[in-house]
Amino acid sequence: MSNLVQKRILLGITGGIAAYKSIELIRLLTKAGAEVQVVLTDGAKAFVTEMTLQAISGHPVRSTLLDPNAEAGMGHIELAKWADLIVIAPASADFMARYAQGMANDLLTTLCLATESPVLLAPAMNQAMWRHPATQANAALLTERGVLSIGPADGAQACGDIGPGRMSEPSDIFNAISTHFEDTSIAQDLTGQHWVITAGPTMEAIDPVRFISNHSSGKMGYALATAALARGAKVTLVSGPVQLTPPDGANVIAVKSADEMLAACKQSMQPQADVFIGAAAVADFKMKIASEQKMKKQADTEELTLTLVKNPDIIATLAQQKLAKSIVGFAAETQNVIEYAKSKLERKGLDMIIANDVSRADIGFNQDENQVTVITHNKTWSPDKAAKSELASQLVECIQQHIQSPS
Ligand code: C5P
Repeated sequence: MSNLVQKRILLGITGGIAAYKSIELIRLLTKAGAEVQVVLTDGAKAFVTEMTLQAISGHPVRSTLLDPNAEAGMGHIELAKWADLIVIAPASADFMARYAQGMANDLLTTLCLATESPVLLAPAMNQAMWRHPATQANAALLTERGVLSIGPADGAQACGDIGPGRMSEPSDIFNAISTHFEDTSIAQDLTGQHWVITAGPTMEAIDPVRFISNHSSGKMGYALATAALARGAKVTLVSGPVQLTPPDGANVIAVKSADEMLAACKQSMQPQADVFIGAAAVADFKMKIASEQKMKKQADTEELTLTLVKNPDIIATLAQQKLAKSIVGFAAETQNVIEYAKSKLERKGLDMIIANDVSRADIGFNQDENQVTVITHNKTWSPDKAAKSELASQLVECIQQHIQSPS
Protein backbone atom coordinates (compact mmCIF):
# COMPACT_ATOMS: atom_id res chain seq x y z
CA MET A 1 0.00 0.00 0.00
CA SER A 2 1.33 3.41 -0.97
CA ASN A 3 2.48 5.74 1.79
CA LEU A 4 1.09 8.66 -0.22
CA VAL A 5 -2.52 7.83 0.60
CA GLN A 6 -4.29 11.01 1.75
CA LYS A 7 -1.10 13.04 1.61
CA ARG A 8 -1.84 16.60 0.50
CA ILE A 9 0.54 17.72 -2.18
CA LEU A 10 0.56 21.19 -3.61
CA LEU A 11 2.18 21.05 -7.03
CA GLY A 12 3.59 24.34 -8.31
CA ILE A 13 4.25 24.45 -12.04
CA THR A 14 6.44 27.22 -13.45
CA GLY A 15 7.17 28.22 -17.06
CA GLY A 16 9.22 25.62 -18.89
CA ILE A 17 8.73 23.00 -21.57
CA ALA A 18 9.05 20.26 -18.91
CA ALA A 19 5.66 21.43 -17.56
CA TYR A 20 3.98 18.84 -19.78
CA LYS A 21 5.66 16.09 -17.73
CA SER A 22 3.96 17.41 -14.58
CA ILE A 23 0.67 16.05 -15.87
CA GLU A 24 2.12 12.54 -15.59
CA LEU A 25 3.42 13.37 -12.11
CA ILE A 26 -0.08 14.37 -10.98
CA ARG A 27 -1.46 11.13 -12.39
CA LEU A 28 1.12 9.05 -10.50
CA LEU A 29 0.43 10.92 -7.26
CA THR A 30 -3.36 10.73 -7.42
CA LYS A 31 -3.21 7.08 -8.41
CA ALA A 32 -1.16 6.44 -5.27
CA GLY A 33 -3.91 8.04 -3.20
CA ALA A 34 -2.45 11.53 -2.71
CA GLU A 35 -4.61 14.62 -2.99
CA VAL A 36 -3.05 17.12 -5.40
CA GLN A 37 -3.83 20.80 -5.83
CA VAL A 38 -2.08 22.66 -8.62
CA VAL A 39 -0.80 26.24 -8.65
CA LEU A 40 0.43 27.70 -11.93
CA THR A 41 2.68 30.70 -12.50
CA ASP A 42 1.84 32.98 -15.44
CA GLY A 43 4.77 31.52 -17.38
CA ALA A 44 3.45 27.97 -16.95
CA LYS A 45 0.17 28.87 -18.66
CA ALA A 46 2.02 29.03 -21.99
CA PHE A 47 2.88 25.32 -21.66
CA VAL A 48 -0.05 23.56 -19.99
CA THR A 49 -3.75 24.35 -19.71
CA GLU A 50 -5.72 24.81 -16.52
CA MET A 51 -8.43 22.59 -17.99
CA THR A 52 -6.09 19.58 -18.30
CA LEU A 53 -4.62 20.05 -14.85
CA GLN A 54 -8.01 20.47 -13.26
CA ALA A 55 -9.27 17.29 -14.90
CA ILE A 56 -6.23 15.26 -13.86
CA SER A 57 -5.98 16.60 -10.28
CA GLY A 58 -9.73 16.74 -9.65
CA HIS A 59 -9.39 20.22 -8.11
CA PRO A 60 -9.70 23.75 -9.48
CA VAL A 61 -6.32 25.14 -10.51
CA ARG A 62 -5.07 28.31 -8.77
CA SER A 63 -2.86 30.92 -10.39
CA THR A 64 -3.58 34.41 -9.10
CA LEU A 65 -2.83 35.71 -5.65
CA LEU A 66 -5.74 38.08 -5.33
CA ASP A 67 -8.57 36.16 -6.96
CA PRO A 68 -11.71 36.96 -4.90
CA ASN A 69 -13.41 33.69 -5.94
CA ALA A 70 -10.48 31.52 -4.92
CA GLU A 71 -9.87 33.48 -1.71
CA ALA A 72 -13.51 33.05 -0.75
CA GLY A 73 -12.93 29.28 -0.83
CA MET A 74 -9.49 28.25 0.29
CA GLY A 75 -7.45 31.44 0.85
CA HIS A 76 -3.76 31.46 -0.02
CA ILE A 77 -2.65 31.13 3.62
CA GLU A 78 -5.05 28.25 4.15
CA LEU A 79 -3.69 26.65 0.96
CA ALA A 80 -0.12 27.04 2.32
CA LYS A 81 -1.21 25.35 5.56
CA TRP A 82 -3.19 22.65 3.70
CA ALA A 83 -0.12 21.15 2.01
CA ASP A 84 1.86 18.34 3.62
CA LEU A 85 4.46 18.98 0.94
CA ILE A 86 4.93 21.62 -1.76
CA VAL A 87 6.55 20.30 -4.94
CA ILE A 88 7.68 22.74 -7.65
CA ALA A 89 8.09 20.85 -10.91
CA PRO A 90 9.42 22.24 -13.12
CA ALA A 91 11.18 24.94 -11.11
CA SER A 92 12.49 27.55 -13.57
CA ALA A 93 15.61 29.71 -13.08
CA ASP A 94 13.36 32.73 -12.62
CA PHE A 95 11.27 30.99 -9.96
CA MET A 96 14.37 29.85 -8.05
CA ALA A 97 15.74 33.40 -8.15
CA ARG A 98 12.52 34.88 -6.82
CA TYR A 99 12.20 32.20 -4.14
CA ALA A 100 15.81 32.67 -3.05
CA GLN A 101 15.18 36.41 -2.73
CA GLY A 102 12.11 35.82 -0.56
CA MET A 103 9.82 37.54 -3.05
CA ALA A 104 6.06 37.12 -2.83
CA ASN A 105 4.99 38.64 -6.12
CA ASP A 106 2.74 35.82 -7.29
CA LEU A 107 0.69 33.05 -5.67
CA LEU A 108 3.39 30.37 -5.82
CA THR A 109 6.22 32.41 -4.26
CA THR A 110 3.78 33.67 -1.62
CA LEU A 111 2.80 30.09 -0.73
CA CYS A 112 6.46 29.12 -0.45
CA LEU A 113 7.01 31.96 2.04
CA ALA A 114 3.81 31.27 3.95
CA THR A 115 4.16 27.51 4.33
CA GLU A 116 5.74 25.68 7.20
CA SER A 117 5.72 22.44 5.22
CA PRO A 118 8.73 21.14 3.31
CA VAL A 119 9.30 22.29 -0.26
CA LEU A 120 10.80 20.06 -2.97
CA LEU A 121 12.16 21.60 -6.19
CA ALA A 122 12.66 19.82 -9.49
CA PRO A 123 14.70 22.40 -11.44
CA ALA A 124 14.40 22.47 -15.24
CA MET A 125 16.13 24.90 -17.56
CA ASN A 126 18.68 25.24 -20.33
CA GLN A 127 22.08 23.81 -19.33
CA ALA A 128 23.83 27.22 -19.53
CA MET A 129 21.15 28.81 -17.36
CA TRP A 130 21.59 26.02 -14.80
CA ARG A 131 25.38 26.36 -14.81
CA HIS A 132 25.20 30.18 -14.44
CA PRO A 133 26.74 31.28 -11.12
CA ALA A 134 23.54 33.19 -10.25
CA THR A 135 21.40 30.04 -10.53
CA GLN A 136 24.01 27.96 -8.74
CA ALA A 137 24.11 30.50 -5.91
CA ASN A 138 20.32 30.53 -5.67
CA ALA A 139 20.18 26.73 -5.61
CA ALA A 140 22.86 26.60 -2.89
CA LEU A 141 21.08 29.23 -0.80
CA LEU A 142 17.75 27.38 -1.03
CA THR A 143 19.42 24.09 -0.04
CA GLU A 144 21.07 25.81 2.91
CA ARG A 145 17.61 26.94 4.03
CA GLY A 146 16.32 23.38 4.00
CA VAL A 147 14.59 23.36 0.61
CA LEU A 148 14.75 19.84 -0.87
CA SER A 149 15.58 19.20 -4.50
CA ILE A 150 15.76 16.48 -7.12
CA GLY A 151 17.79 16.80 -10.31
CA PRO A 152 18.19 18.32 -12.74
CA ALA A 153 19.13 15.35 -14.89
CA ASP A 154 21.81 15.42 -17.56
CA GLY A 155 21.13 14.82 -21.24
CA ALA A 156 19.49 16.12 -24.40
CA GLN A 157 17.42 19.26 -23.95
CA ALA A 158 14.35 20.52 -25.79
CA CYS A 159 16.44 23.44 -27.16
CA GLY A 160 18.96 21.02 -28.72
CA ASP A 161 21.70 21.51 -26.09
CA ILE A 162 23.15 18.64 -24.15
CA GLY A 163 23.97 18.97 -20.46
CA PRO A 164 22.50 19.33 -16.99
CA GLY A 165 19.09 21.00 -16.80
CA ARG A 166 16.49 18.43 -17.83
CA MET A 167 13.74 18.00 -15.30
CA SER A 168 13.96 14.65 -13.51
CA GLU A 169 11.51 12.08 -14.88
CA PRO A 170 8.04 12.10 -13.25
CA SER A 171 8.65 8.58 -11.88
CA ASP A 172 11.89 9.76 -10.20
CA ILE A 173 10.14 12.80 -8.69
CA PHE A 174 7.33 10.52 -7.55
CA ASN A 175 9.84 8.20 -5.84
CA ALA A 176 11.52 11.17 -4.14
CA ILE A 177 8.14 12.29 -2.79
CA SER A 178 7.32 8.78 -1.62
CA THR A 179 10.71 8.48 0.12
CA HIS A 180 10.09 11.82 1.81
CA PHE A 181 6.92 10.44 3.39
CA GLU A 182 8.42 7.06 4.27
CA ASP A 183 9.09 7.84 7.90
CA THR A 184 5.64 9.18 8.54
CA SER A 185 3.61 6.30 7.10
CA ILE A 186 0.41 5.19 8.82
CA ALA A 187 0.23 2.22 11.25
CA GLN A 188 -0.91 -0.98 9.51
CA ASP A 189 -3.28 -2.04 12.29
CA LEU A 190 -6.03 -3.33 9.96
CA THR A 191 -3.76 -5.92 8.34
CA GLY A 192 -5.61 -9.24 8.05
CA GLN A 193 -9.06 -7.60 8.09
CA HIS A 194 -11.45 -7.61 5.12
CA TRP A 195 -13.58 -4.48 4.71
CA VAL A 196 -16.38 -4.39 2.13
CA ILE A 197 -17.59 -0.92 1.23
CA THR A 198 -20.40 0.14 -1.11
CA ALA A 199 -20.21 3.53 -2.80
CA GLY A 200 -22.00 5.77 -5.28
CA PRO A 201 -25.53 5.59 -6.62
CA THR A 202 -27.34 2.63 -8.08
CA MET A 203 -28.78 2.87 -11.58
CA GLU A 204 -32.15 1.18 -12.15
CA ALA A 205 -33.00 0.60 -15.80
CA ILE A 206 -36.35 1.82 -17.15
CA ASP A 207 -35.48 0.59 -20.64
CA PRO A 208 -32.15 0.07 -22.48
CA VAL A 209 -31.47 3.84 -22.61
CA ARG A 210 -33.18 5.33 -19.54
CA PHE A 211 -32.69 4.84 -15.83
CA ILE A 212 -33.56 6.02 -12.33
CA SER A 213 -30.61 7.15 -10.23
CA ASN A 214 -29.49 9.87 -7.79
CA HIS A 215 -26.79 12.50 -7.18
CA SER A 216 -24.41 10.41 -5.09
CA SER A 217 -20.81 11.06 -6.24
CA GLY A 218 -19.27 8.10 -4.40
CA LYS A 219 -16.66 10.37 -2.80
CA MET A 220 -17.41 9.33 0.79
CA GLY A 221 -17.28 5.58 0.05
CA TYR A 222 -14.09 5.95 -1.99
CA ALA A 223 -12.50 8.03 0.80
CA LEU A 224 -13.40 5.32 3.32
CA ALA A 225 -11.89 2.65 1.08
CA THR A 226 -8.71 4.73 0.76
CA ALA A 227 -8.52 5.23 4.54
CA ALA A 228 -9.05 1.52 5.30
CA LEU A 229 -6.43 0.51 2.71
CA ALA A 230 -3.98 3.00 4.22
CA ARG A 231 -4.19 1.10 7.51
CA GLY A 232 -3.56 -2.24 5.87
CA ALA A 233 -7.07 -3.66 5.39
CA LYS A 234 -8.00 -5.77 2.38
CA VAL A 235 -10.78 -3.71 0.78
CA THR A 236 -13.53 -4.71 -1.61
CA LEU A 237 -15.18 -1.62 -3.07
CA VAL A 238 -18.58 -2.40 -4.59
CA SER A 239 -19.21 0.68 -6.64
CA GLY A 240 -22.18 2.07 -8.51
CA PRO A 241 -21.43 4.21 -11.60
CA VAL A 242 -19.17 7.13 -10.52
CA GLN A 243 -16.54 9.41 -12.05
CA LEU A 244 -13.76 8.57 -9.60
CA THR A 245 -10.45 6.75 -9.88
CA PRO A 246 -10.46 3.82 -7.46
CA PRO A 247 -7.71 3.79 -4.84
CA ASP A 248 -4.68 1.62 -5.59
CA GLY A 249 -4.98 -1.81 -4.02
CA ALA A 250 -8.79 -1.95 -3.74
CA ASN A 251 -10.64 -4.88 -5.25
CA VAL A 252 -13.27 -2.96 -7.20
CA ILE A 253 -16.52 -4.58 -8.30
CA ALA A 254 -18.43 -2.27 -10.62
CA VAL A 255 -22.20 -2.67 -10.47
CA LYS A 256 -25.23 -0.78 -11.69
CA SER A 257 -28.45 -1.90 -10.01
CA ALA A 258 -29.23 -2.59 -6.34
CA ASP A 259 -29.75 -6.26 -7.19
CA GLU A 260 -26.26 -6.42 -8.68
CA MET A 261 -24.83 -4.57 -5.66
CA LEU A 262 -26.40 -7.03 -3.24
CA ALA A 263 -25.16 -10.04 -5.21
CA ALA A 264 -21.61 -8.62 -5.40
CA CYS A 265 -21.58 -7.87 -1.66
CA LYS A 266 -22.86 -11.32 -0.71
CA GLN A 267 -20.32 -13.03 -2.92
CA SER A 268 -17.37 -11.01 -1.70
CA MET A 269 -18.33 -11.40 1.99
CA GLN A 270 -18.20 -15.24 2.09
CA PRO A 271 -17.87 -16.65 4.67
CA GLN A 272 -17.75 -13.41 6.67
CA ALA A 273 -16.09 -10.00 6.27
CA ASP A 274 -14.78 -8.03 9.23
CA VAL A 275 -16.54 -4.79 8.37
CA PHE A 276 -19.25 -3.79 5.93
CA ILE A 277 -19.87 -0.10 5.30
CA GLY A 278 -22.94 0.82 3.24
CA ALA A 279 -21.99 4.23 1.90
CA ALA A 280 -23.90 3.75 -1.35
CA ALA A 281 -27.09 5.68 -2.04
CA VAL A 282 -29.16 2.70 -3.08
CA ALA A 283 -32.34 3.44 -5.04
CA ASP A 284 -35.35 2.45 -2.96
CA PHE A 285 -37.34 1.37 -6.01
CA LYS A 286 -36.75 -0.28 -9.35
CA MET A 287 -39.03 -0.91 -12.34
CA LYS A 288 -41.41 -3.80 -11.80
CA ILE A 289 -40.53 -4.85 -15.34
CA ALA A 290 -37.83 -2.91 -17.19
CA SER A 291 -38.71 -2.61 -20.87
CA GLU A 292 -36.49 -4.72 -23.10
CA GLN A 293 -36.89 -2.27 -25.98
CA LYS A 294 -36.67 1.52 -25.90
CA MET A 295 -40.07 2.84 -24.82
CA LYS A 296 -41.70 4.82 -27.61
CA LYS A 297 -43.26 8.24 -27.16
CA GLN A 298 -47.03 7.93 -27.42
CA ALA A 299 -48.26 10.83 -29.57
CA ASP A 300 -51.69 10.87 -27.98
CA THR A 301 -50.85 10.70 -24.24
CA GLU A 302 -49.59 13.45 -21.89
CA GLU A 303 -48.90 11.15 -18.96
CA LEU A 304 -46.79 8.10 -18.36
CA THR A 305 -47.09 5.85 -15.33
CA LEU A 306 -44.20 3.63 -14.37
CA THR A 307 -44.82 0.79 -11.95
CA LEU A 308 -42.02 0.53 -9.40
CA VAL A 309 -41.33 -2.15 -6.81
CA LYS A 310 -39.13 -2.06 -3.76
CA ASN A 311 -35.43 -2.84 -4.10
CA PRO A 312 -33.86 -5.24 -1.61
CA ASP A 313 -32.44 -3.47 1.45
CA ILE A 314 -28.82 -4.47 0.96
CA ILE A 315 -27.46 -3.56 4.36
CA ALA A 316 -30.41 -5.06 6.26
CA THR A 317 -30.04 -8.31 4.30
CA LEU A 318 -26.31 -8.52 5.02
CA ALA A 319 -26.90 -7.71 8.70
CA GLN A 320 -29.57 -10.37 8.99
CA GLN A 321 -27.30 -12.96 7.41
CA LYS A 322 -24.41 -11.76 9.64
CA LEU A 323 -22.12 -11.50 6.65
CA ALA A 324 -19.85 -9.07 8.50
CA LYS A 325 -18.77 -8.85 12.12
CA SER A 326 -19.53 -5.12 12.12
CA ILE A 327 -22.08 -3.43 9.92
CA VAL A 328 -22.00 0.32 9.44
CA GLY A 329 -24.68 2.26 7.60
CA PHE A 330 -25.13 5.82 6.44
CA ALA A 331 -28.29 7.83 6.88
CA ALA A 332 -28.75 10.81 4.61
CA GLU A 333 -31.61 12.84 6.03
CA THR A 334 -33.12 16.26 5.49
CA GLN A 335 -34.93 16.56 8.83
CA ASN A 336 -34.94 14.93 12.31
CA VAL A 337 -31.53 13.60 11.31
CA ILE A 338 -30.49 11.91 14.57
CA GLU A 339 -33.93 10.52 15.38
CA TYR A 340 -34.41 8.97 11.93
CA ALA A 341 -30.85 7.62 11.92
CA LYS A 342 -31.35 5.92 15.30
CA SER A 343 -34.49 4.20 14.09
CA LYS A 344 -32.62 2.93 11.01
CA LEU A 345 -29.83 1.62 13.24
CA GLU A 346 -32.36 -0.51 15.12
CA ARG A 347 -34.61 -1.44 12.19
CA LYS A 348 -31.76 -2.57 9.91
CA GLY A 349 -29.82 -4.35 12.69
CA LEU A 350 -26.66 -2.25 12.36
CA ASP A 351 -23.76 -1.75 14.77
CA MET A 352 -23.19 1.87 13.82
CA ILE A 353 -24.84 4.49 11.64
CA ILE A 354 -23.29 7.65 10.28
CA ALA A 355 -25.91 10.35 9.87
CA ASN A 356 -25.62 13.42 7.72
CA ASP A 357 -27.92 16.28 6.90
CA VAL A 358 -28.24 16.42 3.12
CA SER A 359 -30.45 19.52 3.20
CA ARG A 360 -27.26 21.60 3.68
CA ALA A 361 -25.66 22.75 0.41
CA ASP A 362 -22.09 22.86 1.78
CA ILE A 363 -21.82 19.20 2.78
CA GLY A 364 -22.93 15.74 1.70
CA PHE A 365 -23.90 14.88 -1.88
CA ASN A 366 -21.25 15.75 -4.43
CA GLN A 367 -19.35 18.01 -1.99
CA ASP A 368 -15.74 17.56 -0.91
CA GLU A 369 -16.61 18.16 2.72
CA ASN A 370 -18.96 16.40 5.08
CA GLN A 371 -20.25 16.76 8.61
CA VAL A 372 -21.72 13.72 10.29
CA THR A 373 -22.91 12.27 13.57
CA VAL A 374 -21.77 8.76 14.45
CA ILE A 375 -24.38 6.78 16.36
CA THR A 376 -23.98 3.38 18.03
CA HIS A 377 -26.45 1.68 20.35
CA ASN A 378 -25.29 3.75 23.29
CA LYS A 379 -23.07 6.56 22.07
CA THR A 380 -23.20 9.50 19.69
CA TRP A 381 -20.25 11.50 18.46
CA SER A 382 -20.14 14.49 16.10
CA PRO A 383 -16.69 15.15 14.63
CA ASP A 384 -16.05 18.61 13.15
CA LYS A 385 -16.92 19.34 9.53
CA ALA A 386 -13.95 18.17 7.46
CA ALA A 387 -12.77 17.14 4.01
CA LYS A 388 -14.22 13.72 3.17
CA SER A 389 -10.69 12.27 3.06
CA GLU A 390 -9.91 13.55 6.58
CA LEU A 391 -13.31 12.53 7.91
CA ALA A 392 -12.89 9.06 6.39
CA SER A 393 -9.70 8.50 8.43
CA GLN A 394 -11.53 9.54 11.59
CA LEU A 395 -14.46 7.24 10.80
CA VAL A 396 -12.19 4.27 10.07
CA GLU A 397 -10.45 4.92 13.41
CA CYS A 398 -13.83 5.11 15.12
CA ILE A 399 -15.04 1.84 13.53
CA GLN A 400 -11.79 0.10 14.49
CA GLN A 401 -12.13 1.29 18.10
CA HIS A 402 -15.74 0.12 18.16
CA ILE A 403 -14.67 -3.35 16.99
CA GLN A 404 -12.07 -3.53 19.75
CA SER A 405 -14.40 -2.36 22.51
CA PRO A 406 -18.02 -2.44 21.36
CA SER A 407 -20.23 -0.11 23.35
O1 C5P B 1 -31.89 4.80 2.05
P1 C5P B 1 -31.71 4.69 3.54
O2 C5P B 1 -31.75 6.01 4.24
O3 C5P B 1 -32.54 3.62 4.17
O4 C5P B 1 -30.15 4.24 3.68
C1 C5P B 1 -29.58 3.94 4.92
C2 C5P B 1 -28.50 2.91 4.76
O5 C5P B 1 -29.03 1.76 4.15
C3 C5P B 1 -27.31 3.30 3.91
O6 C5P B 1 -26.16 2.76 4.53
C4 C5P B 1 -27.57 2.63 2.56
O7 C5P B 1 -26.38 2.31 1.89
C5 C5P B 1 -28.35 1.40 2.98
N1 C5P B 1 -29.34 0.93 2.00
C6 C5P B 1 -29.18 -0.32 1.44
N2 C5P B 1 -30.11 -0.82 0.57
C7 C5P B 1 -31.21 -0.08 0.25
C8 C5P B 1 -31.38 1.20 0.81
C9 C5P B 1 -30.41 1.68 1.67
O8 C5P B 1 -28.18 -0.99 1.72
N3 C5P B 1 -32.09 -0.57 -0.58
